[in-house]
Amino acid sequence: MVADQSAAQVPLLEGRGLTRIYRMGDTEVAALRGVDFRIDLGENVAIIGPSGSGKSTLLHILGLLDRQSAGQYLFAGVDTDTLDDDRLAVLRNRAIGFIFQSFNLVSGESALENVASPLVYAGVKRRERLDRAQESLVRVGLGDRLHHDPSQLSGGQRQRVAIARALVTRPALILADEPTGNLDSHSSAEVFALLEQLQDQGLTLVTITHDQRIANRAQRILRVEDGSLIDGNAGDSSYLDHAEQGVS
Ligand SMILES: Nc1ncnc2c1ncn2[C@@H]1O[C@H](COP(=O)(O)OP(=O)(O)OP(=O)(O)O)[C@@H](O)[C@H]1O
Ligand SMILES: [Mg+2]
Repeated sequence: MVADQSAAQVPLLEGRGLTRIYRMGDTEVAALRGVDFRIDLGENVAIIGPSGSGKSTLLHILGLLDRQSAGQYLFAGVDTDTLDDDRLAVLRNRAIGFIFQSFNLVSGESALENVASPLVYAGVKRRERLDRAQESLVRVGLGDRLHHDPSQLSGGQRQRVAIARALVTRPALILADEPTGNLDSHSSAEVFALLEQLQDQGLTLVTITHDQRIANRAQRILRVEDGSLIDGNAGDSSYLDHAEQGVS
């Protein structure tokens, strides 16, 4: 996956002093207070921490959905401040797949159409879009649900459609915000197994989670606390205890 040795030394994602301040009238909320990190290609990283600590804020910046207020965010070695909104949108569409707690599927559109939608923005022709969407749905075990509306699917199946949609552009990076947060234990297990497969296939995974299995499986845990980042080892159970306490 890595073109040459110099590329191997550049982290896929790097934050330097990342700060995000939300301004609402006269009040300011410092959601991130100068965080530093590097995430390499192929890593599986879990982000944990209490509610309101800044996890989603961080993930939105990682996913180029939001920009930091100060500090630098480098994507594959490129300083994202040098990219205009159009270039960021292209990079986001080609390189990143998103999975959210609430699935974010469009009702009134079939599973197939939902999964194909990122390819519309990528300029892929309709026939190829549908072929690739079908391939992606087969990959998540939903080859027999192509024409179902999201409302006709179980929660776990909806999240698998969302995962198929995240994979359809063949991204290098998957960002997930509480992917099992709305699921019962059976559906969580299905989604967990799928995330495990993606890791085995070499995708870079960054997952915000309160799910101990997902955190256990990560190679590295980033703990966010009051807008600051504490880098931990996945084997250190005190981080997981903390994740459990942080359930909102
Ligand atoms: N759009 C916004 N405008 C103003 N403040 C915001 C905005 N989004 C988040 N915040 C504030 O920033 C802080 C961090 O929020 P964030 O959503 O990143 O937390 P989180 O760690 O993802 O929490 P949770 O586990 O509950 O999802 C919180 O204090 C929140 O109230
Ligand atoms: Mg959040």
